[in-house]
Amino acid sequence: MDKKQGLLKLKLDLQSRKDIPLIKSANDVVFGDGDPDSEIVFIGEAAGYYESVEHRPFVGQSGKLLIKTLNEIVGIDRKDVYITNIVKARPPDNRDPFPEEIEAFRSILDKEIEIIKPRIIVTLGRFSMAKFIPDVTISQVHGQPRFFKFSTINHELTNYEPIIFPMYHPAAALRGTTVMNIFKDDFVKLKSLLVQKTKIEDNKQDIDTKQHGQLDIF
Ligand code: URA
Repeated sequence: MDKKQGLLKLKLDLQSRKDIPLIKSANDVVFGDGDPDSEIVFIGEAAGYYESVEHRPFVGQSGKLLIKTLNEIVGIDRKDVYITNIVKARPPDNRDPFPEEIEAFRSILDKEIEIIKPRIIVTLGRFSMAKFIPDVTISQVHGQPRFFKFSTINHELTNYEPIIFPMYHPAAALRGTTVMNIFKDDFVKLKSLLVQKTKIEDNKQDIDTKQHGQLDIF
């Protein structure tokens, strides 16, 4: 099964589940979207109104900012990355997802990552950041790449170790100039990371990631 088929199967499975909160019918699912062969995956929080109408992540105001910034600063189109959410449905009134909702969708996201195996995972906002970097605030770690070791994915042992790149959520950037400037600066750093990634991967063994697990490249 190739990546596209694997993701389609996962989406169809999710659409038929009766035990996942926020999913009453197949129509409620807002699955990940984009190029499954991309080396970058963006992970947001949950679908909003426009996403629930179009059944595609990040198509509202936040999405427009995300895609415009990716395009203008990094020079990459939406179709060339993969974009998904922690919670693949819309919480009512766009409230924050509950911990039990995040937990219910966890194995779906893990399988999605396992199929794509991106080299870089960009987390957008605190919910997706917390999956990989718990007990920190975004203000402490945004724009600082670090390796993350998946010792198991869905209970299976792995040695998959992508780079996690935490960023503010674009909705936070839309709320004020300070975060907007940080958001754009972090895209400049993401671009540098992409340029350097081959070197980083080659030298991975030499980099001391044990101390804070952080890559010292900026
Ligand atoms: N915010 C998110 O986190 N995800 C979306 O898909 C849209 C807005």
